[in-house]
Amino acid sequence: MLIRDLAATDLAALRSWFADEAALIQWGGPDLRFPFDAAQMGEMPAEGDPRPSRWLFAGIEDDILAAHAQVSLDWRHGVARLARVGLAPSMRGRGLAVPFLSEVMDRVFREPAFERLELNVYTFNTAAIRTYKRLGFVPEGVRRAAVKVGSARWDTAMFGLLRPELKSAA
Ligand SMILES: CC(C)(COP(=O)(O)OP(=O)(O)OC[C@H]1O[C@@H](n2cnc3c(N)ncnc32)[C@H](O)[C@@H]1OP(=O)(O)O)[C@@H](O)C(=O)NCCC(=O)NCCS
Repeated sequence: MLIRDLAATDLAALRSWFADEAALIQWGGPDLRFPFDAAQMGEMPAEGDPRPSRWLFAGIEDDILAAHAQVSLDWRHGVARLARVGLAPSMRGRGLAVPFLSEVMDRVFREPAFERLELNVYTFNTAAIRTYKRLGFVPEGVRRAAVKVGSARWDTAMFGLLRPELKSAA
């Protein structure tokens, strides 16, 4: 999969991936509200910014936006946080998440400043958890009933990976 920076023109495709609030929160966390819009995307990082606070990646397959992931960057503490990982619905189930995220992880650890990459994922999200474990992420605990979606409460699992634990994708 080809990887490039996400562009403002990708947002329309991205928002079409999530049909309701539950799908949106599963992807992007508890602060999002349905329908997703450009304002909730936050400011796009300035092009060429040497130390941006976020990277926004786009994965391109068959000439369409197939995957997206963001990485928030804490340069002071050397901690990066993977978030808003998603594949276009038509691209799921083909094993594309591992190579896409593997490339994203390589880009994080290519920066000597980063020693830790972390993420949150809801405990029911088996496809995501299997993907993260395959990439070497280690479970670090669960925040029980951390999010309210409709009348349900979801548990949030935390995963982390330290630089020495980085392995090539299996
Ligand atoms: C999470 C996501 C990126 C994973 O990509 P994907 O293409 O669906 O993942 P895959 O089909 O490669 O599946 C990954 C693994 O989970 C398994 N899996 C997938 N769906 C499953 C299910 N319902 N039950 C059990 N296992 C499942 C696959 O067999 C595979 O296992 P393996 O690595 O042992 O072969 C994708 O599902 C997605 O975009 N989901 C919606 C947004 C989202 O939830 N993002 C994550 C936010 S933390």
